[in-house]
Amino acid sequence: MLIRIALAAALVAVGVSAVVAQQDPIAARKALMKLNGQHGAALSKILKGEEPFDAAKVEAGFAQWADTAAKFSALFPDSSKTGETRAAAAIWTDRAGFDAAVAKFAKDVADNRAKAATLDGLKAAMPIIGKNCSDCHQAFRNPS
Ligand code: HEC
Repeated sequence: MLIRIALAAALVAVGVSAVVAQQDPIAARKALMKLNGQHGAALSKILKGEEPFDAAKVEAGFAQWADTAAKFSALFPDSSKTGETRAAAAIWTDRAGFDAAVAKFAKDVADNRAKAATLDGLKAAMPIIGKNCSDCHQAFRNPS
């Protein structure tokens, strides 16, 4: 019974977020990126020694990044070129390049997810992940 309720709630949540993404893709993609940033900041604190290593936080970050990578490309319909967005025109003029950047992010997250389960592994993985963030922002996000 509990499982069925939880499943129903999860299905409703998925349905709602899909509708929101269709109605307001700019808000949806910015919300995903905001979460990317929050997880990145949390893991940076671990790397700087400001917070103790916490495998659950690491896994939560990688899970969020994987989720973002899976959803991101679909959130740039032609109708979302303008508005409250820093998405660069290059996303639409070089769609293949943008999709390749998303795919590389997805692959680097998947390849490093298990390796990051120790502090040394996280230290090795974070620069690889972080380069995806900065490379894509440089090519496909307008300066603020
Ligand atoms: C494949 C491209 C790509 C990758 C990879 C990527 N980003 Fe982004 N990011 C964008 C784009 C495009 C925007 C602008 C979205 C908009 O304004 O519509 C953005 C916006 C943001 C924002 C601002 C969100 C807001 O509230 O407006 C943050 C924070 C951010 N990204 C963090 C990250 C972090 C951290 C990573 C790596 C873990 C990352 N991004 C990886 C393309 C990317």
